[in-house]
Amino acid sequence: MDSAHISFENVTKNFGAVPVVSDTRLSIARNSFVVFLGPSGCGKTTLMRMVGGLDSPSSGTIRLDGEVITEPDRRRGMVFQSYSSFPWLTVEGNINFGMRYRNDLTAEERAARVTHYLRLIGMEDFRTSYPNRISGGMRQRVAIARTLAAGSEVLLMDEPFGALDALTRERLQVELRQIQREEQKTVIFVTHDVEEAVFLADRIILFSARPARIRKDIDVAAVLGPDRLLGAREGEAFFRLRNEVLHMIRNETGDKR
Ligand SMILES: Nc1ncnc2c1ncn2[C@@H]1O[C@H](COP(=O)(O)OP(=O)(O)OP(=O)(O)O)[C@@H](O)[C@H]1O
Ligand SMILES: [Mg+2]
Repeated sequence: MDSAHISFENVTKNFGAVPVVSDTRLSIARNSFVVFLGPSGCGKTTLMRMVGGLDSPSSGTIRLDGEVITEPDRRRGMVFQSYSSFPWLTVEGNINFGMRYRNDLTAEERAARVTHYLRLIGMEDFRTSYPNRISGGMRQRVAIARTLAAGSEVLLMDEPFGALDALTRERLQVELRQIQREEQKTVIFVTHDVEEAVFLADRIILFSARPARIRKDIDVAAVLGPDRLLGAREGEAFFRLRNEVLHMIRNETGDKR
């Protein structure tokens, strides 16, 4: 039995004559946290857009629960680096907006979901605030809450913490890992930050420079276990793995300095 939540079968992508993704085969388990790590411009965003259904492979297929992905749908929610919240809606309005296609929910159920996710991201006091009155970290929390409220089983996150200061970023990493465990979501998270990748991942897929090709499949969970609290970063195992991955990525980019 194939229990893959998401699978890539011989996926390639070319933009005109330029190959961007090269023969990618990958099977992602349900409720796992997978990080795509790779040098700038290698094709990570292109891969994510294809999983999201915003773009399609030149050949091969990507499946969700065995079904070929052809267009966006609410089972896959996307969170990007630049703030994906609507400035004219309050925090509550933004989370509600995620449920715009949920005809299956009553007004009461929607309200209950808004409250649940506001609490989950620790922003009950900001319910009626507008995005320009909250911090960048809070705006990314709202984006996460919005995709969860929509009912997404898969979170596609493309450098969502890239624009945040180091401390906020660390805090959001801890929170995201907790949310992923509690809410039982499958996450694909793109970054080029090695430390972020090791801290968050159950599994790191290391890609080559363009065209993206899988170089390494690293089982982080086997080394660090499932629980990642802030202190995990200071442990010996974390440090060793981080150095190993740094080394791999330096070899990949040809940077031997
Ligand atoms: N719509 C497009 N048309 C033509 N070329 C494109 C298109 N989208 C991306 N590319 C090219 O494909 C390559 C991979 O782009 P992509 O954005 O997927 O890389 P990335 O790994 O996400 O990079 P970064 O780390 O900088 O975000 C780049 O060379 C880019 O210029
Ligand atoms: Mg990108």
